[in-house]
Amino acid sequence: EEEHRSSVGDFVMRDIIILLGPPGAGKGTVAPVVKSKLGVPQLSTGALLRDVVRQDSKTGRKIKGMMQKGELVPDEIVMKLLKERILHKDCDRGFILDGFPRTMEQAKALDTLLTEMRERVTMALYIKVDPSILEKRICGRWCHKRSGRVYHVSSHPPKSMKLKNGAPDPQTMRDDKTGEALYQRADDTPEALKRRLVDFHKHYDGILEYYRKAKKTVNGNGSIQEVRKRVSFIMDDHMTSTFVIRNAYDLVDTPKSKL
Ligand code: AP5
Repeated sequence: EEEHRSSVGDFVMRDIIILLGPPGAGKGTVAPVVKSKLGVPQLSTGALLRDVVRQDSKTGRKIKGMMQKGELVPDEIVMKLLKERILHKDCDRGFILDGFPRTMEQAKALDTLLTEMRERVTMALYIKVDPSILEKRICGRWCHKRSGRVYHVSSHPPKSMKLKNGAPDPQTMRDDKTGEALYQRADDTPEALKRRLVDFHKHYDGILEYYRKAKKTVNGNGSIQEVRKRVSFIMDDHMTSTFVIRNAYDLVDTPKSKL
């Protein structure tokens, strides 16, 4: 992990990876693979926004209903959260954006921000899946709040899961690592998924075209293990190629968290 990072003086080229794909494609499921390869944090705008809703602030109350219905949150709220988050110390070597950008305005705003910092997106990983599997994936999902770990009642059940009248007993849905209770997201319903997919189809062709140079596509159909393995190969390739590029740089600069 240390080896592929290149630094000259204090300067480090940040690896900025974006995960693209429809709701339920598996962005949150493959993120740990990217994270463990690069040693950089996963920033999920959905998770950041759910934290805001839990805090019960004015903004939280404003966006709660939008999110439950599966509507996109206004760009300025998302951009403000993200701008603050990427300056944290843990992003000094890069970060993974999960669920961002969702609109062309967000893609362009990200580019403006990165250009100011003399940076760019290093890879846009598009998880391509058969649309017919999305509802099953979304409606069977259970999440662990603190870690962001995701489970699925049939493809990836928690070890503790027991059935009651043929359905998972909520009392037995617990995180494998901590034993803490899992929860189901308020927007993981067939109705909200329809709304989320409308936005996806409206914006994604443009976004995929925008990132055509940095884009890598992974087949997101198949088992979790198969998809994670494909992502792992792509990341190995990425690390080899960026290692070469990074070593061509001869710059001295300041870590982003100190700006
Ligand atoms: P967000 O939290 O980003 O949700 P999303 O993009 O809709 O994506 P999901 O988290 O639903 O899916 P995923 O691809 O991560 O799938 P996962 O890996 O969990 O956004 C939520 C809301 O926040 C938005 O609707 C919007 O309101 C707001 N928002 C967020 N970002 C915004 C932005 N930038 N601008 C404006 N508003 C924004 O997998 C799903 C399930 O399938 C899991 O149970 C998993 O175990 C299972 N699974 C995954 N892969 C496989 C496999 N290969 N085989 C079998 N099962 C699998």
